[in-house]
Amino acid sequence: AKTHYHVWDVKYTYKFPDCYKKLAITINGESPGPTIYAQQGDTVVVRLTNTMLTENVAVHWHGIRQYGTPWHDGTDGVTQCAIMPGETLDYKFVVDRAGTYLYHAHYGMQISAGLYGFIIVKLPDGVSEPFAYDHDHTILLKDWYHGSTYEEAVGLSSIPFKWVGEPQGHNVTVVEADGSFVEPFVTKSLYINSGETYSVIVKADQDSKRNYWITTNVVGRKPSTPTGLGIFNYYPNYHYKYPTTEPTTGPFWNDTASKLAQSRAIKAHHDYVTAPPPTSDRVIVLLNTQNLVNDIYRWSLNNISLSLPLTPFLVSLKHNFTDTFDQNPPPDTYDVENYDIYSVAENKNATSSNPIYRIDFNTTVDIILQNANTMTNATSETHPWHLHGHDFWILGYGDGKFNITKDPKSYNLANPIMRNTVPLYPYGWTALRFRADNPGVWLFHCHIESHFYMGMGVVFEAGIDKVGALPKSIMGCGKTKHMINP
Ligand code: C2O
Ligand code: CU
Repeated sequence: AKTHYHVWDVKYTYKFPDCYKKLAITINGESPGPTIYAQQGDTVVVRLTNTMLTENVAVHWHGIRQYGTPWHDGTDGVTQCAIMPGETLDYKFVVDRAGTYLYHAHYGMQISAGLYGFIIVKLPDGVSEPFAYDHDHTILLKDWYHGSTYEEAVGLSSIPFKWVGEPQGHNVTVVEADGSFVEPFVTKSLYINSGETYSVIVKADQDSKRNYWITTNVVGRKPSTPTGLGIFNYYPNYHYKYPTTEPTTGPFWNDTASKLAQSRAIKAHHDYVTAPPPTSDRVIVLLNTQNLVNDIYRWSLNNISLSLPLTPFLVSLKHNFTDTFDQNPPPDTYDVENYDIYSVAENKNATSSNPIYRIDFNTTVDIILQNANTMTNATSETHPWHLHGHDFWILGYGDGKFNITKDPKSYNLANPIMRNTVPLYPYGWTALRFRADNPGVWLFHCHIESHFYMGMGVVFEAGIDKVGALPKSIMGCGKTKHMINP
């Protein structure tokens, strides 16, 4: 296995991807940043220097499980102190599995400021994918706001994207999701939620005398942005030759049924099924609500809105600090009987805090995400949930309130896909299962950056005693001020 060294300078640069000039956070002057290419089993070292004048930074390697290096997961407040202006941190981790992944900022709202890019991991030599193709192209979809990241305060929300094919043109075959091979299926449009990665195969078998539109449309919330356009170019046509047809507008933004149908269609490839443990040791039901904390809009899980501590959880737990975060365990469920998920809550208030779920190492945990009405009448939103450090099996999706005696009978235990991100649909539930087999402290949160910023996340700890000595480079904040390298 090889080691890939990258030297990154993170700073503000003027960018104008849509002709509107604004400041973006860039890596070596670029946004998206450079793609990290590696092969399964390789080590990646990123020497990151923060040359912004006034902002901290932390970068998360989304989809990389960080076996043995939980301190390099890159999550501010959870696994590290943010990198301060002028400082350098060496991230070092092994890419343990082939697939398409992301990296992105995990501090404040810096994703929307432009700090993200690809991690592309090849299979080992001599191992091939269960599908064939001639060329490999990458497309990264991102919300792009004209306001500064500071203006995107509480209340603003990024929206899931979807990539739609061309109606009289190509279909796509979905073959990979978050690093797992998918039982291939064909679709015209692909819904992509924030934090999800897919590989699709497009067969260039249409009229080759013309080019075709690739279009993206915002769904999930009523879009006020124009359709994003790209050109699918057939050689030797001029690559900017506009297609002769109008770009498609795709399915309606609020067509939850078709999104749900796509989610349900994503199953593990028949040759790559990893069966989940047949039962779980613990079930955690997380009610997703929009609330008020001191009159400010927040998102909460079982009525607790996450506020990150000044000292990262990983450091606190390793050093047995008990005064740095809330020591009371958060609730494993909510008042299922009486809570009306279809109405605005009677009591809108939640608490802002930072407790953690302590999971027994190597046990199996089921998480039921339960959606509800927001603070607006007749409104419930889609939340893509992302788990750090693990893949989980997606056991099922349903409408309405989850029924703990009835609904588990419908779980797919035969060929569920393993992923790190899963959508929770309006007024519905999503069930997933994971094995707490990776020692560390791991964030589980809605991947819409502004929702997480507004408290939409929980923290799991498992096997902290198995975590090796923490590098000093992740310390230096909160109670670890004195632990910084001299
Ligand atoms: Cu890609 Cu915690 O996120
Ligand atoms: Cu959300």
